[in-house]
Amino acid sequence: MPYKNKIEKALEKIIFSNAKTRLQEAMAYSTLGGGKRVRGQLYLIHLANFASVNEADYDYSALIEMIHAYSLIHDDLPAMDNDSLRRGKPTNHLVYGEDLAILAGDGLLNLTYHWLFKMAKEDQVFITMGEKLAEAAGDGGMVYGQLLDLSYEGKRMDDQLLLEMLKNKTGKLISHPIEAAAIRAGLAEEEVEIWKNLGLKLGLAFQIKDDLLDVDSSAQVLGKTPGKDEISEKNSYVQVYGYDKASQDYENLKKTILEDLARLSQDFELYEYYKGLLERKY
Ligand code: IPE
Ligand code: IPE
Ligand code: MG
Ligand code: MG
Ligand code: MG
Repeated sequence: MPYKNKIEKALEKIIFSNAKTRLQEAMAYSTLGGGKRVRGQLYLIHLANFASVNEADYDYSALIEMIHAYSLIHDDLPAMDNDSLRRGKPTNHLVYGEDLAILAGDGLLNLTYHWLFKMAKEDQVFITMGEKLAEAAGDGGMVYGQLLDLSYEGKRMDDQLLLEMLKNKTGKLISHPIEAAAIRAGLAEEEVEIWKNLGLKLGLAFQIKDDLLDVDSSAQVLGKTPGKDEISEKNSYVQVYGYDKASQDYENLKKTILEDLARLSQDFELYEYYKGLLERKY
């Protein structure tokens, strides 16, 4: 996995693995030593393709992963998806209690922007990138998608709303690292937009795959409890359209994404990364 060690090291530096308080311990529990680090890798692998990668970029990739980790802690809470397994371990609230799990998410969210402000003092480009990150993760992005997800449990969404939910709850945080890499590399606005849109398609595919895996994988492989979307009457892509259509649509989307990418870049490593991501098993 490209850059995985760099991302882990940056996360350890920011989170401090020997956490001093129980809250910091809870923050570290859900951030360090687990997860595929897809969002951090997307940032670094695109940046390497556009320009060069510096020390600060490993930190930025860690910050994106911290926002993602906070979203997972809250996503697993009883008030949300009520899950007991995450990254092969008991969920944060089962270990630390719901109160600490809520605060661990809050702590990670604040630590992300605390660190980002420090980085922005050194290099102003992080101001623009941070603005985009907050937008992708906030009430017009991931948080909004989570609202749609939760408020439609037990009720069927129409096609358009389903796409809106998928794009917001997952698409925008997958697209962000690609957009941020393009901004960091100083690409022209139109080019940034093109990459951002490819990222949105990739993010949509990423959530459809997550929905497929919820049905066709196991706890052992996934590190989370499968079958939850049906039990919770979620509007997952599979629950709405059925497994066969979901698989077919996924294959078509995958093909489009890889064709789009091949038109945009001849980089073999980038292509292989996208292909691996689209064919992931967990
Ligand atoms: C899980 O994301 C939640 C979704 C948005 C689908 P990942 O599949 O990237 O989870 P980790 O970070 O590898 O655990
Ligand atoms: C995405 O959806 C979650 C977030 C945006 C945090 P899911 O609820 O399907 O993610 P998993 O399956 O719990 O990882
Ligand atoms: Mg959820
Ligand atoms: Mg969930
Ligand atoms: Mg899921």
